[in-house]
Amino acid sequence: MKTLASPRQNNRQESVFMSNFVVLDHPLASHHTAILRDKNTPSQMFRTTANKLTQLLLVEATRDLNLKETSIETPLTGMKAQKLAQRLAIVPILRAGLGMVDPVLDMMPQAEVWHLGLYRNEETLEPVIYYNKLPEDDPADVVIVVDPMLATGGSASATLQVVKKWGVPKVKLMSLIAAPEGVKRIQAEFPECQVYLAALDEHLNDKAYIVPGLGDAGDRIFNTVK
Ligand code: PRP
Ligand code: URA
Repeated sequence: MKTLASPRQNNRQESVFMSNFVVLDHPLASHHTAILRDKNTPSQMFRTTANKLTQLLLVEATRDLNLKETSIETPLTGMKAQKLAQRLAIVPILRAGLGMVDPVLDMMPQAEVWHLGLYRNEETLEPVIYYNKLPEDDPADVVIVVDPMLATGGSASATLQVVKKWGVPKVKLMSLIAAPEGVKRIQAEFPECQVYLAALDEHLNDKAYIVPGLGDAGDRIFNTVK
């Protein structure tokens, strides 16, 4: 897959990562990411900005979806048109992933939403699953896991394991911001998973927060910053 990144980012990525991921390279993506990162951005604006970035990511993540031909009537004539052919599901990782659900459903109202509740233990950094609504059979054709932050990759890895158990043939991950550590982990454990990011940051700090990052995404989305 083509990596969409600025030349400066590209040099770094090519030396560290494999190719199965996309970093948005668009002025709108940079602009909205700057708003998200700003500590003075209030929660309501944080949510609407995350929505916009999610839709930009979704355009990239759905680029390879299959189409089927269908007959329609315009007000002027009959014609053959193309509509989406595949069953698409999103899996938001609660809680912060909920902030990426509405913008996907706005663009793809037919998408299924299967929730997975998971938090990162602050001491061990290990993911703890507390809610799993994924079925065990009849998998969707394409699943997009959504979570604004890919830090150590522990939460995404646990989620992708559950999605894989469901038997999904094509799995993608959309995050707003990632650390190199998280991307590398997902690529090593799930080389077939396509990863879509608005930004790839520098590193994790000693509490495994992404730097420069945006802080705690769930707290900023749900206005629970203490
Ligand atoms: C955040 C974020 C990811 C996870 C990323 O969730 O939304 O799920 O941390 O970190 P990792 O890559 O190191 O696993 P958090 O655990 O804070 O829970 P929340 O969404 O309920 O706030
Ligand atoms: N979770 C967040 O919400 N932010 C980070 O920087 C890391 C994990």
